[in-house]
Amino acid sequence: MSKTIAIDGPSASGKSSVSKGVAAELGFIYVDSGALYRGVTWQAVRKGVDVTNAEAVVNLLHDSDWDFFIQDGASTFSIDGDVPVQELREKEVRENVAHVAVIPEIRKFVVESLQSLEHFGSLVMEGRDIGTVVFPDSPYKFYLDADPEERAMRRYRELVAAGESEKAEEVMESLKKRDKIDSTRKVDPLTVAPGAQVIDSTSMSLEEVIQTVVNFVRAD
Ligand code: DC
Repeated sequence: MSKTIAIDGPSASGKSSVSKGVAAELGFIYVDSGALYRGVTWQAVRKGVDVTNAEAVVNLLHDSDWDFFIQDGASTFSIDGDVPVQELREKEVRENVAHVAVIPEIRKFVVESLQSLEHFGSLVMEGRDIGTVVFPDSPYKFYLDADPEERAMRRYRELVAAGESEKAEEVMESLKKRDKIDSTRKVDPLTVAPGAQVIDSTSMSLEEVIQTVVNFVRAD
């Protein structure tokens, strides 16, 4: 029987690395739910649609053709025949995605699309509302957390490794802002799902966190 593992948590809590590691170890499909919000945003940006105009973004979504498939063990999608990957990480998308992610019709599309991925097989899905909204009935729900200072340091190191010249204090500030937006927004705020296992990774290695999740799922 296929299983779905939900991994939620704040920015830079290590969700992506943990989810990818768990998926690789268990042979499950990795799903980055944020990529779908980024995909809608990318489509709006390239079509010149104002992301603060919810109606225009929703109309654009209705006029776009999405297709989901599995590539290299991860769920992927095309929009009107194009497969955005690096494009989803571009600055314009990063800076506009928060507007798109609060539009209820867009959330409905993303949530239903994520739920439909179960037909591909067992999944490890990372996000903000996977255990609370997308798969609330999953017995494998995790909430990854870490101290804000530790998360800021991790994000800072990632940015430096990617060649960006950001200051550590600015990364801390932007992370605090993101935390506040994510946990106080009206639609699907970031909260610990009932029954979720909370993992504080502040002083754990990536491998330890992956093994904690894998052992829990295997013990079932
Ligand atoms: O995790 P990320 O940075 O790729 O997320 C991009 C945006 O989408 C961010 O504004 C949070 C939002 N998001 C969400 O609301 N729910 C999810 N399950 C995943 C992402």
